[in-house]
Amino acid sequence: MTAPAARDPSGKPVLRALAGIRVDPPPVWLMRQAGRYLPEYRATRARAGGFLELCLTPDLAAEVTLQPIRRFGFDAAILFADILLVPMALGADLWFETGEGPRLSTVTGPADLARLRPAEAVPERLAPVCETIRILRRELPARTTLIGFAGAPWTVATYMIAGRGTPDQAPARRLMYGDPAVFEALIDRITQATIAYLSAQIEAGAEVVKLFDSWAGALPGPHFARYAIEPARRIVTELRARHPGVPVIGFPRGAGAGYAAWLDGTGVEGLALDTAVDPGWAARALQPRACIQGNLDPLLMVLGGPRLAEEARRIRDAFAGGPHIFNLGHGITPDADPAHVEQLLAAVRG
Ligand code: CP3
Repeated sequence: MTAPAARDPSGKPVLRALAGIRVDPPPVWLMRQAGRYLPEYRATRARAGGFLELCLTPDLAAEVTLQPIRRFGFDAAILFADILLVPMALGADLWFETGEGPRLSTVTGPADLARLRPAEAVPERLAPVCETIRILRRELPARTTLIGFAGAPWTVATYMIAGRGTPDQAPARRLMYGDPAVFEALIDRITQATIAYLSAQIEAGAEVVKLFDSWAGALPGPHFARYAIEPARRIVTELRARHPGVPVIGFPRGAGAGYAAWLDGTGVEGLALDTAVDPGWAARALQPRACIQGNLDPLLMVLGGPRLAEEARRIRDAFAGGPHIFNLGHGITPDADPAHVEQLLAAVRG
């Protein structure tokens, strides 16, 4: 474990685990725990008028962040926002097509880059997000940890380049090979914006920050080191210098055996595993160096039943020898049943 490991002034289970302490039963939260599977979320989203309005209205964003905490008593709350707010703050047009997902104006050449705002402009343009954090620090129960977040530069770049989500991130990989100067300038701009934005989140009261590299698995060979590990290393190093003792969780989804190099290269305190990572391997190869978070298949939150409890215990037991935060391997889906969340909590905590 890295430096802050020894101290744990707070007694909050998630902060204890991230400080390298084995907590039994493990603390639990779920990726996308505030979302469409909850009727109260859908009601608040309708009141806001839309998803982006919800993200940028501090009272309502705080409300939907708190909903799953009230209902389930999770050990962590994750700020309600989106990774695509950073491109928006950099000057991209952003909207959500109902039923289809995000749409953005694209960045594919020097002229598009030149139109982007400087990285330093991002925290001020996202001031409502920091206001949400301040509200949450007043309203959250004393034992609940508040997690801020941002997308990792590569993942954010895939949306900025393609203008939408893509199954294979081909437009972004095409730019990476075809115009490395533009591609690297974009990665650099997002990296700097992310440092400024996460720093502002921590100053507003985020106790942990998580970096989502949802498409890390699409980067081949040396490009994984350059565009997944290196930007994350810069972000972690800079945050550590500015805010010593604030842990970072990394999620290089789909990295496979690359999880080990990503952990070594970035030095994060917490490592979120996707569903494909074998817990036995991770317990041996990764857990001695970081708190593991994960990695139940989100489909089990739709199915419920005995398999849910069995799989949850299998993962809990695999990581019982070291620091672990129980979570899913990816976000909970809109068709999940809230009653299955209760089942999961009983299995993990019971
Ligand atoms: O509860 C939480 O986890 C906090 C909020 C959160 C959201 N998005 C809310 C959201 C977080 C941490 C994210 C991260 C995010 N956003 C990622 C990385 C994690 C991952 O899932 O891999 C990515 C890639 C995005 C970009 C994004 N946002 C997409 C592709 C979509 C559309 C697909 C979808 O799930 O609908 C969104 C929309 C979004 N972000 C929703 C929520 C609750 C659904 C919006 C709605 O209410 O209609």
